[in-house]
Amino acid sequence: MATIHRHAGVMTMNALPPAQTEVFSALLDDLRLERKPDVRTGEIDTSYYTDENWFKQEHQQLFAAAPLVIGHSSMLQKPGDHFVHDHSGKPILVVRGKDDQIRAFLNVCRHRGVRLSNADGVANTPSFVCPYHNWIYALDGTLSKVPLQSECFPDLDKSCHGLKELPLGECEGLLFVSGDPDASINLQQQLGPIQDDFKAFRLGDHVFFRESVTTKKANWKLIIEAFLDGYHVVRLHRKTVGPMFLDGVAKSQRSGDNIMSVVARQEFERALELDRNEWDLRRHASCAFFLFPNTTIIVHPDYISYLTLFPTAANETICVHGCLIAEAPRDEKAAAHWERAYNIIEEGVFQAEDLFVCEQAQIGMNSGANDKLLFGSYESSILDFHHIIAEKMGPYTPASG
Ligand code: FES
Ligand SMILES: [Fe+2]
Repeated sequence: MATIHRHAGVMTMNALPPAQTEVFSALLDDLRLERKPDVRTGEIDTSYYTDENWFKQEHQQLFAAAPLVIGHSSMLQKPGDHFVHDHSGKPILVVRGKDDQIRAFLNVCRHRGVRLSNADGVANTPSFVCPYHNWIYALDGTLSKVPLQSECFPDLDKSCHGLKELPLGECEGLLFVSGDPDASINLQQQLGPIQDDFKAFRLGDHVFFRESVTTKKANWKLIIEAFLDGYHVVRLHRKTVGPMFLDGVAKSQRSGDNIMSVVARQEFERALELDRNEWDLRRHASCAFFLFPNTTIIVHPDYISYLTLFPTAANETICVHGCLIAEAPRDEKAAAHWERAYNIIEEGVFQAEDLFVCEQAQIGMNSGANDKLLFGSYESSILDFHHIIAEKMGPYTPASG
């Protein structure tokens, strides 16, 4: 199973992503047999999206210890490269060490708790020097120097005062960090067969290009829903990317706690006449991976987006949208091309359309117009998402708030 791509005159051969290919194949069968999805509808209380007490429980049970995507290893090219990440509520410092290993720490000095790095984007340093009293930490987090130690702290054991390390896992370049130092990360279990798809999409060979961070007045679940919704694509996006897709030709499938989706592009029907080894999932469809609880990876024809959500309140969410490209831009013209491609999706589609309607829906929640939201057959993967939450937290009832 292989697809041949030309990149700058070079032929590269990609294996088909096994898990998404099954979804793609099933969708193609639906089209061939003119099969419509089974009717599946659902209702959800609006207070599920506004209840602060329920939100606190979600944060505690779904986010506090969960391994969350905080970036891509290509952001840290050389030893000493580091960035800070505060969106989860924990001050996280991520750094590539002299041994080339990427580690995550709490960005907090072990003396009297001052923040160590305030890097804006990716910065480089030989060590971390606390601004207050200049305790120095090596890139692997060990405490290497305490000024005037013999007078001030004659009994201090430096080996016990290294930076507090956080669990970190990497899958094809995606960096997952838990904010709980005692948590453990098992990406094999968490991602299952999706790991092979990431390999087939060469996620690990991609490089970080750009990221934007915005805060939206919308419940985090509304935003996840927008990226699982097969019903809106040709409607909400009719002036932008909508015409590239077929209406109502989409399929999703749960994989553990994650959800894979395929939305057919206009070119999809051509795949009916092709052998399986000629299918090109990036041209014939748009594939997305929802990684529970807060990340959506979207495979566009020529780059990959990640959208990670960090809720701060029932009605407020920090949204990080990053762009990964197959190779670093070789010149300014190439960089300008990717900048344009990224902005079309970030500003024209995500901000102006998807995230806009999420904020509009949140306003509607508080109006009292709807006690419940309604979901139909082309929104059924949203119901899967809420089932996953219920499996972990128990069912939501307004009284539980
Ligand atoms: S608080 Fe960091 S050196 Fe004192
Ligand atoms: Fe959308």
